Amino acid sequence: MTNSLLILPGDGIGPEVMAEVRKIITWIEDKKGVSFDITEDLVGGAAIDEYGTSLSDDTLEKCQQADAVLLGAVGGPKWDDVDYAIRPEAGLLRIRKELDLFANLRPAIVFDALIDASTLKPDVIRGLDILIVRELTGGVYFGEPRGIEDLPNGEKRGFNTQTYTTSEIERVARVAFDLARKRDGRVCSAEKGNVMESGRLWREVVTALHERESFTDVELSHMYADNCAMQLLRNPHQFDVLVTDNLFGDILSDEAAMLTGSLGMLPSASLGAADPDTGKRKAMYEPVHGSAPDIAGQGKANPLATILSFAMALRYSYDQGAIADDLEQAVQNLLGKGIRTADIMADGCTTATTSDMGDALLSELDAIHQKAQAA
Ligand code: IPM
Ligand code: MG
Repeated sequence: MTNSLLILPGDGIGPEVMAEVRKIITWIEDKKGVSFDITEDLVGGAAIDEYGTSLSDDTLEKCQQADAVLLGAVGGPKWDDVDYAIRPEAGLLRIRKELDLFANLRPAIVFDALIDASTLKPDVIRGLDILIVRELTGGVYFGEPRGIEDLPNGEKRGFNTQTYTTSEIERVARVAFDLARKRDGRVCSAEKGNVMESGRLWREVVTALHERESFTDVELSHMYADNCAMQLLRNPHQFDVLVTDNLFGDILSDEAAMLTGSLGMLPSASLGAADPDTGKRKAMYEPVHGSAPDIAGQGKANPLATILSFAMALRYSYDQGAIADDLEQAVQNLLGKGIRTADIMADGCTTATTSDMGDALLSELDAIHQKAQAA
């Protein structure tokens, strides 16, 4: 069986971090006998330059066909003035929507070796492991009507619509409950039901599903999103799985990411519904960090978030959980040795370039692999 993978490096640091993932994939093919059928294409600003749009129909079709898509990052000042409809972000949003990738998994994990990289006190964040499940294809990101209109008095009015249906809420809540069962068994659902009808419905539907589909072994709690933002800083350990809508998820996941000290470390997975016949889900994996145009092309970017995103692909799309475990362990080992890119630099550590980091990770993988073979 071949594992098809579409790589979309995108803009800014996307291409250079992706080059490191390529090294890892080659290593896996050589040492683990798992092969990948890789296609590469353009997205975001790079696609605007080449195809005149941030996601061409042809590229979208490749996304539909692939077992998984691995995306670097999109955007940069170069495209600040392009038509809003074809801006780099629009390409990313179109993939999410067209592939119906409604469940966005964003783990926020504190690595022991990086505990000092966080602005929070070590005691508050030590051992932290939160999984944010963000709804990704609904809400105010896609709600209609939307637009900017002219008012008779000469003013303009910008408007967007926050909307959620029962089934949209149910399917993402189900993912959160299922994942909680494999973790610490706790789900907190965040909305603004004190202000928004869509939030009231969200809470009602999540509560009903919890009962009806017998997720009662999972502990469910609810929080208003603003309180949740505060609680994430006050006592993040109270959270295991956090399920929330598209906009609150965007914000809370950035906040949770910063608890860990570096966006350069955090992966994500965006999953669609399981195919009833094959059980396979459409999927896209991407680092949580952006395109970081200010450091692009200088060998300063941290490739670990993208590499860890590929580890998520190994787990969720390619059924290679054991290799994903090795890869994650290799990251821990590497950090333990004090090898760091600038974003996670600390006293007494060694500065590594993007490609040094990839090479060092390969050495760690080799070591883990040899140890396992010797055993
Ligand atoms: C994210 C990003 C995107 C979003 C942007 C780039 C459109 O912030 O993935 O969190 O808002 O969803
Ligand atoms: Mg965001």
